[in-house]
Formats: sequence, C-alpha cells, structure tokens
Amino acid sequence: MDNSRSHQRIVYYPCCANDVDFPIKLMGVENTKYIFCDIRSHRDWHKAKNSAATVKFLRMDAWVAIDKLPEIDILFYRRDGMSEGGSGVEVLGDEYLQRLLKKFPISGGKIITDGSNAFGCRLDYLKMGLVDCSGFKISFSPNQDLIKHDLMTFEIHK
Ligand SMILES: C[S@@+](CC[C@H](N)C(=O)[O-])C[C@H]1O[C@@H](n2cnc3c(N)ncnc32)[C@H](O)[C@@H]1O
Repeated sequence: MDNSRSHQRIVYYPCCANDVDFPIKLMGVENTKYIFCDIRSHRDWHKAKNSAATVKFLRMDAWVAIDKLPEIDILFYRRDGMSEGGSGVEVLGDEYLQRLLKKFPISGGKIITDGSNAFGCRLDYLKMGLVDCSGFKISFSPNQDLIKHDLMTFEIHK
C-alpha cells in the first residue's frame, strides 16, 4: 500500500485479539503507527512490541479507546462477531463511527474492513455511499486491491 506521505499515518484496529502481524505486514512499518485495542491482552502483543513496527496497545473497551486516540488515518477492523468470542461492538455502526470519525483529519482517511458486525442493510448502505458521519461521507473506494484478503476499502472524505 502507498505510505509515501511524509507524516506518520496512524492505523487504529479495535477488537484485534492476536491479529497484529497481518495488518503490520499489509501496511508496512514505514511512517506508520499502529494502535491496537482489545479488552484483553493477547500473546502476540509482546512480539509486535519488540518488532520494527511502531505500536501501541490499548487494553480496554473499544468505546473507551476512542477517547484515548490521537488523530487517526485508517480504521482497520475484521473478523469480529456478536456471538460468543466476538466483541459485540458494532464498530461500523452509526454510533461508533460518529464518535470515531471525529478523530480523522479534515482530509479524511480510510476504513479497511471485512464488514464485521455490519448487519442488515448496513454494509450495503456503506457500499452505496449512503452513510454520513460527523461531517464525513463514507464511500466504497474504486481501488479494491485488498479484496484478495477478503477486505474492502472505504474512503472517508468531506
Ligand atoms: C472475534 S475476536 C476478534 C478477532 C480479530 N479481529 C482477528 O481478526 O483475529 C473479538 C475480540 O474482541 C475482544 N473484545 C470483546 N469485547 C470487547 C470490547 N468491548 N472492546 C474491545 N475488545 C473487545 C475480545 O477480547 C476478542 O479478542
């Protein structure tokens, strides 16, 4: 992925569990900081802390984590659920995004997701560009190069 911007971009991944290596490999270590959040700590977290990646772990509820975030550029979120083992947090829902998108710069950013915990028509509305949150529009990116990883890319923009 393009990480040629001169300032450090920040990736936020709520309810990450042990899934830390994959996003770091996908988005790289250069000019990129990862903020992982989970209510529990997981065994691979210390490996990431000792790697070349710039990482921060927020061991807390994903709702509480929003208030601890600096400005972020990318929301990464996958493989979550509502039943046992899942967080039950609708990260792609209106309430969560209304709060989270306040953390994006005016220039916007991206959501990279498999559509976890987006129920009913929610994912379709996101894909159709019908979701506005906190003054941003969310639209399905014309560039879907992560589809091979079962991930969709959305653009967040004014
Ligand atoms: C299904 S797992 C996520 C799997 C991970 N995204 C992956 O791709 O491997 C759900 C995770 O959410 C965490 N969790 C549960 N409730 C949470 C909450 N309120 N806030 C943050 N994390 C939570 C659990 O500890 C668990 O690690």
